[in-house]
Amino acid sequence: MASVRFQGVSKIFQKDILALAKFDLEVRDGEFLVLVGPSGCGKSTTLRILAGLEEPSTGDVFIDERNVTDIKPQDRDIAMVFQNYALYPHMTVYDNMAFSLKMKKMSVDKIDRNVKETAEILGMSDYLQRKPKELSGGQRQRVALGRAIVRHPAVFLFDEPLSNLDAKLRVQMRNELSQLHTKLKSTMIYVTHDQAEAMTLGDRIVVLKDGYIQQIATPLDLYDNPDNSFVAGFIGSPSMNFLNIELEKGVIHAGDTVLQNTPYEGIPDGEYLFGIRPEDIRPSEGSLLSGEVEVVETLGNENIIYLKFNGRQFAARCGPRVKAVPGKTFGFSMDFGRSHLFTSDGIKMRVNKN
Ligand SMILES: Nc1ncnc2c1ncn2[C@@H]1O[C@H](COP(=O)(O)OP(=O)(O)OP(=O)(O)O)[C@@H](O)[C@H]1O
Ligand SMILES: [Mg+2]
Repeated sequence: MASVRFQGVSKIFQKDILALAKFDLEVRDGEFLVLVGPSGCGKSTTLRILAGLEEPSTGDVFIDERNVTDIKPQDRDIAMVFQNYALYPHMTVYDNMAFSLKMKKMSVDKIDRNVKETAEILGMSDYLQRKPKELSGGQRQRVALGRAIVRHPAVFLFDEPLSNLDAKLRVQMRNELSQLHTKLKSTMIYVTHDQAEAMTLGDRIVVLKDGYIQQIATPLDLYDNPDNSFVAGFIGSPSMNFLNIELEKGVIHAGDTVLQNTPYEGIPDGEYLFGIRPEDIRPSEGSLLSGEVEVVETLGNENIIYLKFNGRQFAARCGPRVKAVPGKTFGFSMDFGRSHLFTSDGIKMRVNKN
């Protein structure tokens, strides 16, 4: 068990490729922290710096108040699980898990205890004598986790460990990882570009973009109170709907549309980006607001209706019985109390929501 601290850490590759801008981050002992962001935003670099596989350009990394910046990877008490976990194909599950302990010259008895205990945790006790090619994808992934767990590291690092699995198995393994964290109570740092994975796994989530931290918050706080339009658009599926608006004395003007009774009284007049989540749009026949239906996604438990509204595509999350026909007009209302307002540069405006 351990806490982790990044202090003024940055990474520049080849003199001018900024992978990580200077950042501070504290990961609490026993926390499940998720780093999320689009490809190339610096997620793996952050993990690699913590693991000691990459040197930071500036700053220091601490594990439990011990400055490990100049400490070799093998002496950091960290275990990392990658997307391409490459098990040793000629070794049994048992030997795959025992390998790093043998390297550490642990006694045969202790290795046996650790491997069997880990196999038990992962539900793999019956598979210890199999070779990787005799396992399913999910079972192989469990062995990869097992190789990390047997070492009882202070910190677990995961770099998109579920990317190679099919959608159903990903959800199952996600669930198992959550349970594993509850059981082990270890500090875990998990990298993904999948916002749903981030939301379901993280105690807290760090959103990264182009090497800059955009926001650090709990999943719900991130969803309800995004600090900027990038976070607002990145977290949630379908994405938040956006509209370029002009605000005049609390009244919204968007193209030909005028929206009264907004919660924006007191906000300076000017141009803003207005955001509303798909679930905060309701069907409303005869409403002043309407758009042409482009696509209807029937999911069984709900319908996602995509409309053209003011030149933008708007998604509305509706009940399964709500009818909408492509090409036809769809009237709707919005829950302004749950809307978001950003400056034209995408910075959140503080709004007193009514
Ligand atoms: N060894 C390297 N040399 C030069 N540039 C690098 C190197 N490693 C990473 N980068 C660059 O640093 C940036 C961050 O890379 P990183 O691998 O951390 O991204 P990531 O968030 O993990 O992306 P992905 O989701 O695609 O894995 C990228 O622009 C990448 O091209
Ligand atoms: Mg990566």
